[in-house]
Amino acid sequence: MTIQSALSGRSKRWGHPGAFMQAVTNMLDPATDAEKAARFASLSRDDRIFHVVLAQQFDTQSIEELCQLSEMIRKIASHRQGNLFLQTLLSDRRAMLYFIQPSTRTFMSFTAASQILGMGYNSVRDPSTSSETKGETEDDTIRVLSQYFDVIIMRHPVEGFAEHVADILNGIPRTIPVVNGGSGKDQHPTQALLDIYTLFKCFTEHNTDTPLTEYSGNPFAGKTVGFVGDLKRGRTVRSLTYLLCRYPGVRLMFMSPPELQIGPDILEYVQRNGIEYEICDELESHIGELDAIYVTRLQDEHDVNGESKSIDYYKFALTHEMAGRFKADLAILHPLPRRHELDPRLDALPQAKYWGQVRNGMWMRSALMAYIFRVDGTIRDHYRNYYAF
Ligand code: CP
Repeated sequence: MTIQSALSGRSKRWGHPGAFMQAVTNMLDPATDAEKAARFASLSRDDRIFHVVLAQQFDTQSIEELCQLSEMIRKIASHRQGNLFLQTLLSDRRAMLYFIQPSTRTFMSFTAASQILGMGYNSVRDPSTSSETKGETEDDTIRVLSQYFDVIIMRHPVEGFAEHVADILNGIPRTIPVVNGGSGKDQHPTQALLDIYTLFKCFTEHNTDTPLTEYSGNPFAGKTVGFVGDLKRGRTVRSLTYLLCRYPGVRLMFMSPPELQIGPDILEYVQRNGIEYEICDELESHIGELDAIYVTRLQDEHDVNGESKSIDYYKFALTHEMAGRFKADLAILHPLPRRHELDPRLDALPQAKYWGQVRNGMWMRSALMAYIFRVDGTIRDHYRNYYAF
């Protein structure tokens, strides 16, 4: 049985784990539990995440802690004295932002997070200005950067490169953490963290009196989250799906042109975690069912022969004309940048959460840096002493 033939035999309405998926699992996931455990252990220190490479590294406890911490930093930073406190926390640390793929949000929010925590930073954005032009390998560049900085935050066009960097860094005496700021078509774990923080905020806003700084629970039970667009090549969708699979009772809807449907490896993960899902080849008729919609642009930079040009992507645009069918508390998210798939006339609606989502990225990336460098406890103590009233 090939993966394609397995997929063609599958029901398209709310899938559940079954024999079909077991067949796909066996084909796609040969790693034993012991191999997986070793892989995650190599990314951790003392049972804490050290290298941030894969969204699957995060469980409900770490997601919850990071959302609480993001919210605490956001509140502390709203006061001048609070900002001065935060700026003392990592003033003895330096970050390298090695971003050799274009970025606005991820790069800038990590620089802003560094400034919030008082951490110095420097960057490589154009490898033609580095000694790689003289024949130095990327691996050696990483080894050199590790001698000057205390964390490497990287964006790279190659899938799996961040994990490879973690292996390099684990093999040298001065091991520092690497943070994956987007790798190829594969993973964007810090985007997924800021996305889930945004969803936590949206889904708890009117449903609990507990502030998010203290919130512990599953706000996704009974919620339908729709992903729309280029799901095959969109790394943000892949990473966020991994995180949402931690929450029983969430339902996922994948809406895309058939050529750009979510990968079988992700569907297998969804199935293995017992999460309901639906595959759809249009958006319009599903709008009213959704509690959150995650809109994505066409990732045509990954085209090999301009194949995106023949795809009708307009069917997967969220338009102002659809707004009458939105649930009142629908949350519209988009990792950005956007093109025509997200109508700018939607920006003024209360359901539009994507500009807040951008800002949440700065708080979540601050929280992540604080967690990696183990000053999260200091922030919690400070918050509880001065802000929890
Ligand atoms: N969402 C996101 O990753 O944006 P950038 O490519 O601008 O970093």
